[in-house]
Amino acid sequence: MLKQPKQKEFQDLVKDATHAELVWMNGFLQGLLSQNSQATPSSAVGKPLAIPVCSLLYGTETGNSKKLAGDFATKLKKHGVQVKLKSMDQYRLNDLEKEVNMLVVMSTHGDGEPPEAAKKFFNHIHTQNLSLNQLQYAVVALGDTAYPLFCKAGEDVDKRFAQLNAQRMAEMKKCDIDFEQEAHQWLDELLEKVFLKNESSVAVKLPTPKVQPISGRKTYDATVLASINLNDDQSNKETYHIELKTEEPIDYEPGDSLGVVPRNSASSVKNVLQLMGLNGSETFEYKGGSDTAVDLFTKKINIRHLPERIVRHYAAFVNKDIPALRMDLADLLTRYPAQNMNSTIAQQMISMLDPMAPRLYSLSSSPAAHGDMEVHITVSKHHFVANAQKIFGLCSPYLSDLNAGDQVKVYVQKNRAFKLPAPDADVIMIGPGTGIAPFRSFLFERDAAGASGRNWLFFGEQHFVSDFLYQTELQSLLNTNVLTKLNTAFSRDQKEKIYVQHKLEQHADELMKWLDGGAHLYICGTKDPMSVDVEHALLRIFSQKKNISQTQAEEYLQLLGETGRYQKDVY
Ligand SMILES: Cc1cc2nc3c(=O)[nH]c(=O)nc-3n(C[C@H](O)[C@H](O)[C@H](O)COP(=O)(O)OP(=O)(O)OC[C@H]3O[C@@H](n4cnc5c(N)ncnc54)[C@H](O)[C@@H]3O)c2cc1C
Ligand SMILES: NC(=O)c1ccc[n+]([C@@H]2O[C@H](COP(=O)([O-])OP(=O)(O)OC[C@H]3O[C@@H](n4cnc5c(N)ncnc54)[C@H](OP(=O)(O)O)[C@@H]3O)[C@@H](O)[C@H]2O)c1
Ligand SMILES: Cc1cc2nc3c(=O)[nH]c(=O)nc-3n(C[C@H](O)[C@H](O)[C@H](O)COP(=O)(O)O)c2cc1C
Repeated sequence: MLKQPKQKEFQDLVKDATHAELVWMNGFLQGLLSQNSQATPSSAVGKPLAIPVCSLLYGTETGNSKKLAGDFATKLKKHGVQVKLKSMDQYRLNDLEKEVNMLVVMSTHGDGEPPEAAKKFFNHIHTQNLSLNQLQYAVVALGDTAYPLFCKAGEDVDKRFAQLNAQRMAEMKKCDIDFEQEAHQWLDELLEKVFLKNESSVAVKLPTPKVQPISGRKTYDATVLASINLNDDQSNKETYHIELKTEEPIDYEPGDSLGVVPRNSASSVKNVLQLMGLNGSETFEYKGGSDTAVDLFTKKINIRHLPERIVRHYAAFVNKDIPALRMDLADLLTRYPAQNMNSTIAQQMISMLDPMAPRLYSLSSSPAAHGDMEVHITVSKHHFVANAQKIFGLCSPYLSDLNAGDQVKVYVQKNRAFKLPAPDADVIMIGPGTGIAPFRSFLFERDAAGASGRNWLFFGEQHFVSDFLYQTELQSLLNTNVLTKLNTAFSRDQKEKIYVQHKLEQHADELMKWLDGGAHLYICGTKDPMSVDVEHALLRIFSQKKNISQTQAEEYLQLLGETGRYQKDVY
């Protein structure tokens, strides 16, 4: 409690303060308190104390949010802000209600979902009835306008914090793939508005680092050089090794993926056009441009497996009672046709549809070994069963059907979180099925660079005879000692299933030796159940071989992750 005249002075000070000034003062006081020193406030005032305090949380999958949050932290610290930088998966959820200032940098993945490492945080804020009355926050959402749900996860966090009574320091900033410059400008404004109200106690203002402005995505025209089915005729699978030549040098590193926007088949487009009473040559507006109906439905609009939200939107549009279930546009139009179809109605329907989402394929080539105008991908022709019918995916069959000489547009999706270590470090790669793709890139890259580190690969597929992807190449890499060890698990060559994790368990002692010697561990391939089961096996191995508890094993794996020695690229 303040005594007079201090109380009056304090009331005068806050009475006319703007919201931003109150935020700053709040942070200032938090900063003073968090010093936890014996210094009295009077001795502190005027000194360049580290004020105010701000937590900076990031949720990332491919490393962009981590990089941006790291750059933000550096800038904030240089301006005298005391920053607590944390990945969302390492954040103590119980601290949330005590926070005063928080910046969140968060990307969106999957179909509008938070990154894997942000899911616990995301679920926590959405399921707990938290009270965030004292929190001032701002969100930078990273995303990609090529996806239907642009920056959805960041938007969800921003909305939820507001629902929980936190106050926005600034409007959320949604950033597309070329995020750096815009995000830094946003932070500069925030610094100016919120944190730098009292310049006396902060360091000299720094100019924003010059970031080369990039506008939009860099796409490459590529020509198919070769497409080879790596599986034998008797196989249950078709996995295509596709080599593409680009018209200009393509900038990528091992661990990055190739992005492809698929095309709808001519027959499915014809069907939709007929159902909408169009001949295809009519022009419609879509996402700020205009195109013929046939081009829109072939290249730009998703007509398959529409999300429930679009089915609901259509139901309201045609005023019909339609169950909100995912279905193809053709099925929706057949079962629930719109009345009095004309070009205005067709335009309204086109506007409500999602853009075609790109698909990613791990690059299986190496710039050092294959040059900078050629890229390789390893595509499994995806099929699944729905309504008791075998159905093919969209993009993988489109790619699988390409022949030498065909053209395709591609882009590089960088992944800062899946990268080779220093040349002298050992690597352990676990890549069943198409999970082998980035490891082929790693091995060729390390061979070309003459890296001295050892390389150990665990590969799994159904049958030795028909499904040993890249067998000859791997054999040759073994013969030349580029590949130090190769362990394979052919799941269906015997009665009981043998998977890569069984091979890990068989070689647990050696695995631990490699890890104790500083090896880096990688997993690539299907997320669930493969990567989940492999992770469980790793935890069992750590627990047994190190004689530690399950929790300690989890902490060990987490530590490997934090130090960049455990990296996953799973899908
Ligand atoms: C970082 C990353 C790297 C990847 N690397 C590789 C790689 O190296 N090699 C590789 O082969 N793949 C890779 N993938 C997976 C790849 O991107 C695609 O997801 C995969 O090829 C399937 O795409 P698709 O268009 O063929 O299938 P989609 O059409 O997208 O179908 C996907 C799923 O949607 C559902 N679905 C779609 N249509 C219907 C329908 N009509 N009815 C009911 N359900 C439906 C089904 O559940 C189906 O399984 C990677 C993914 C990521 C994120
Ligand atoms: N987003 C997507 O739509 C998506 C995501 C993932 C995968 N896919 C698709 O799934 C298909 C197959 O992928 P893929 O070719 O890479 O091979 P895969 O299905 O991952 O199979 C590779 C090997 O892993 C084995 N395996 C299965 N379950 C496992 C587990 N729990 N732990 C360890 N190993 C396990 C398989 O054995 P068995 O087959 O004998 O069980 C097989 O031997 C492709 O069509 C791909 O496109 C699509
Ligand atoms: C598999 C995949 C799915 C994605 N899905 C979305 C999406 O639904 N919405 C979106 O706005 N961006 C999406 N993106 C784009 C990412 O959010 C964008 O690349 C971002 O910069 C990644 O940041 P991060 O590296 O911190 O994860 C997706 C990217 C990938 C690789």
